[in-house]
Amino acid sequence: MHKFDDQASKILLKVLSHTIERLSLDPPILDYPKSVEFFEKNAPSLITEVGNSIDKVFDQYKNTIEQSIISADSPRNLSFIPAAPTKASMIFDLVVSAGSLNGISWQEGSGAVWVENQVIRWIADLVGLPEDAGGCFVAGGTNGNLSSLVVAREEHRKKHKGNSKRLAIICSDQTHSSVKSTAKVMDCDVIVVPTNDSFQLTRESIENELKVHSKKYKELDIFAIVATAGTTNLGVIDDIYGISEYAKSNKIWLHVDGAYGGAGLLSPKVKDLFSGIEHADSFIVDPHKWLFAPFDCAAVIYRNKHLASEVHSQQANYLDILHDDEAGDNPSDYAFHLTRRARGLPMWFSLSVYGIKAYREAVESSLNIAKYAADEIKKSSYLTLLIEPSLSVVAFERENWGWEECKNWSTEQLKKQVCFVVPSLVRGKPVFRFAFLNPETSKEIVDEILLSLE
Ligand SMILES: Cc1ncc(COP(=O)(O)O)c(C=O)c1O
Repeated sequence: MHKFDDQASKILLKVLSHTIERLSLDPPILDYPKSVEFFEKNAPSLITEVGNSIDKVFDQYKNTIEQSIISADSPRNLSFIPAAPTKASMIFDLVVSAGSLNGISWQEGSGAVWVENQVIRWIADLVGLPEDAGGCFVAGGTNGNLSSLVVAREEHRKKHKGNSKRLAIICSDQTHSSVKSTAKVMDCDVIVVPTNDSFQLTRESIENELKVHSKKYKELDIFAIVATAGTTNLGVIDDIYGISEYAKSNKIWLHVDGAYGGAGLLSPKVKDLFSGIEHADSFIVDPHKWLFAPFDCAAVIYRNKHLASEVHSQQANYLDILHDDEAGDNPSDYAFHLTRRARGLPMWFSLSVYGIKAYREAVESSLNIAKYAADEIKKSSYLTLLIEPSLSVVAFERENWGWEECKNWSTEQLKKQVCFVVPSLVRGKPVFRFAFLNPETSKEIVDEILLSLE
């Protein structure tokens, strides 16, 4: 198993040839999920005492497993937040895996940490964070939110020793679900502030909520506000500037969740919408979303990285040596994790190869197609646009359709391989949403989908 023998060589050739086939699909096939009965029949367990032939196992993957996985990178996949990794990033991911690159520490992976930090710095500059800012790549936005809010809480505890009130985070009714999960893990409360007519969290809405329900919140000690730079459901950017002023005057940590929308900072067309983001104490963006990296890659960045390492650095006799070398960063010190693959490298490679301009243009192509879709929806007699898109999410209602009709249409279109678009709810109403982030999603695809909704 550990020698590069004939078997390993055969596996490599098979995998490379399959990888070339998959990478050259233009576009990737959407595919659709299969039933448990299908897998019981076609993919019985091959885990046995003595193993199986390479062909048998690989064929099961190729003919049964792979085809049941909806391609996140299909230009017809507009559901949730899909993915659109660049070819260079996907191909370089092979190198990261094949090299067993360990991204825990400077001692073990100095070169990997060096280039990952170049990407972290590039993102920090887009946000407008100071020199002392830093962070690392984690598995996803959920981990990034958790890691940030844990640092926020510890900072708060340091400054308010002896305070026995229950801790709380302010967020909005549009904040990503991972913030509520984070609060559960941290055993603290969440103050969910209703958003305004534009689905934004604002300074006024926070002040109003705290005033109207002052009795209810009297017993809580607020240590963080989460502003979202691109909500998942609607792509809305909160009033970050107003919120940052409020956070500053009340000495509350400001965390900005740009997991999806943070990539918009690349475009001068929408950059102003992010005003105030430079005041964030912590920030996340997921390159595996709109920055075209393969799964799983999220960046978490702190205004003052030293605050994060004080909290997240793991102490153990066998690990202490990692902290002897003060010159280099240890990515494991900046989040709730220890062992980690050098998951920032595919992004570093791709960004270095294609250049920032290509990334900006790719982000802007999503803004453009979102605008096109919104305009077409406005022209239609059977669809109603919910709000003008700020970024690349377009949400709309199909007149006279309830949840069931929406679901049936969605299932039908996936079966026909027209698109993967699932319904969502906005303030109790069923809506469809297109999350555009694949530069290959064309006007023709949008037209075809809109026509199928007639
Ligand atoms: C705004 C926002 N925050 C956080 C997350 C969670 O990210 P992940 O799925 O990478 O954990 C998402 C996911 O869509 C998101 O859109």
